[in-house]
Amino acid sequence: MPRQLFVTTALPYANGHFHIGHIMEYIQADIWVRFQRMQGHQVHFVGADDAHGAPIMIAAQKVNKTPQQFVADIAAGRKPYLDGFHISFDHWSSTDSPENHELAQAIYRELKAQGLIDVRPVEQFFDPEKGMFLADRFIKGECPKCAAKDQYGDSCEVCGAVYAPTELKNPYSSLSGATPVLKTSDHYFFRLSDQRCLDFLQAWTQDGKLQPAVSKKIKEWFTKDENGEGGLGDWDISRDAPYFGIEIPEAPGKYFYVWLDAPIGYLASLKSYFAAGGPKARYGETRSFDEFMADPQVEQVHFIGKDITYFHTLFWPAMLKFSGRKLPNQVNVHGFMTVNNGEKMSKSRGTGLDPLKYLSLGMNPEWLRYYIAAKLNANVEDIDFNKDDFMARVNADLVGKFVNIASRAAGFIAKRFEGKLTAAIGDEGKALLVALQAGGASIVRQYEARELGKVLREIMLLADRVNEYVDANKPWELAKQEGLDARLQEVCSVCIEAFRLLSIYLKPVLPAVAANVEAFLKVEPLTFSDADKLLGEHTIGAYQHLMQRVDAKMLDALFEAPPAPVVEAVKPGGEDIAPTITIDDFVKVDLRIARIVNAEHVEGSTKLLRLTLDAGEGRHRNVFSGIKEAYQPEQLIGKLTVLVANLAPRKMKFGVSEGMVLAASHADEKANPGVYVLEPFPGAEPGMRIR
Ligand code: 2FM
Ligand code: ZN
Repeated sequence: MPRQLFVTTALPYANGHFHIGHIMEYIQADIWVRFQRMQGHQVHFVGADDAHGAPIMIAAQKVNKTPQQFVADIAAGRKPYLDGFHISFDHWSSTDSPENHELAQAIYRELKAQGLIDVRPVEQFFDPEKGMFLADRFIKGECPKCAAKDQYGDSCEVCGAVYAPTELKNPYSSLSGATPVLKTSDHYFFRLSDQRCLDFLQAWTQDGKLQPAVSKKIKEWFTKDENGEGGLGDWDISRDAPYFGIEIPEAPGKYFYVWLDAPIGYLASLKSYFAAGGPKARYGETRSFDEFMADPQVEQVHFIGKDITYFHTLFWPAMLKFSGRKLPNQVNVHGFMTVNNGEKMSKSRGTGLDPLKYLSLGMNPEWLRYYIAAKLNANVEDIDFNKDDFMARVNADLVGKFVNIASRAAGFIAKRFEGKLTAAIGDEGKALLVALQAGGASIVRQYEARELGKVLREIMLLADRVNEYVDANKPWELAKQEGLDARLQEVCSVCIEAFRLLSIYLKPVLPAVAANVEAFLKVEPLTFSDADKLLGEHTIGAYQHLMQRVDAKMLDALFEAPPAPVVEAVKPGGEDIAPTITIDDFVKVDLRIARIVNAEHVEGSTKLLRLTLDAGEGRHRNVFSGIKEAYQPEQLIGKLTVLVANLAPRKMKFGVSEGMVLAASHADEKANPGVYVLEPFPGAEPGMRIR
């Protein structure tokens, strides 16, 4: 009986594009999925965008989009990554789908019926300007321990202290800058501290199904310290409006916290895949989604990163258990991916590995699949992408050991034997092929156990044996000698048979290479059972080179920092700041507050207004000002402004101007018209000096 597998990867937040961490997880899961399919099992491999939550809502507001539009735009950019790295999801949905709304509400109602939902008042910071409660990450202030400024609401990046946002000194909302106020509202809780939950989770997390390191970590989470702190508390599953999420039934203005509906999105995505007829088309599945999920034979398998273990091994199984649903059979936790010796990834320093840049440089996606697989095991360990290591493994192992086998033998078969392989293989060749076939069992076991590094090491050891056979039999020398045609055909046939076996074993990792091998060998899509037999008398096609070597220049380009953006020299107001002066220069200019006692048009002038100013001198001044285009005289009369009081009087066509009024304008007045007379804050009096 084929197994029925429902496989997921963590649903990525829809507020950014995929980074190498996502791609690494997808490659790991995809290899496992392809392996299962090649074993003849039925797999439904689904993903979705994790659409909800305050950060996405706020990011959408910032760019003037609805959250739905924002999420849809991110989703539209997913395909080049998934196709580019040969990630074979069967279906991709969103946690904002109708299926997810419905399922989340149904699960909540079931938990409530079990008496596992509580409502309690919670006091929290509220942004009075934005009219919303603030998640810890949107509150900043001074660290209560070390007084460092601009620290987040949960912990200090300077001294490492951990605290509640209410402990911050001078807190402010990073959304509006407003001082948050404490406000109380009702929150909904999933009562994980209920003895039924505790008993269930203690057993479920410690029965050997999880990775040992994961079970151990969970044990710590269960344990209270000597002060009775820690242990498993109830989980706050509600957020107040405004929130982008799923409404809680019978609770107006309350939404599910994003982490409640996110894993339910796994089920919802599968449900929408069923609704789209996917399982039927692929496997002739006739059952409904509900019937399928009710089948105890169906295995539910999650791949996740270590940072979200808590949600997937405690909250999620408890939600499923107490809503009467199937439980996960596997929660496969992986570590993080670092780049070039654990350097923290940073785009500006160019140390990150940008997946789209990788593809756009023409780098082969299967190099990366191979390299990541070579580094992965079934433990929760971080893996490092290292340039030199990458080049060595791809060039020496993948190309040098595997691809070369075909290139060394295929030419002779094509040129000398019209593409025909022979079944007449002597003992040495037979022994080699039998050994390769026998190696399959362990490779299958290691694939199943996600020991991908071991898989590739075993395959490469087999490839070494094939290369030793080639070196011992030297087809290129056989080809030069008279009368050794049969021997040459035999040796090359052994090589091609061996190459085919290795291709089967590598196919989950190298799907595109495998497809080219199938075309070149003229065989049906390879599965693991094809390793049981040999091709024998069979005609193959022409060999096309299967894979290039990595060029160091590509890696240099990949990690080259992006060119610094060309900053146009900024000219404020259209002109450079004038050369520096000293304060002594500045005080030479005597600026005074003056009241505009009168303003009038100047006959014969299209530019000037005549201003009569009182600068507190016990006399009035006459000043001509080029502001006619911008102001009507009556707008100005009675206003205060700024006068350059010690400017030498200037004789003009219409009379003497005794000073100058200050006004702002752009250097390029044609392109940026507008003249703005300066006006002091209230309280200033005529005659006051400006300094
Ligand atoms: O950590 C994250 O990126 C989450 N969006 C993962 C959610 S996984 C599942 F629960 F949906
Ligand atoms: Zn601090």
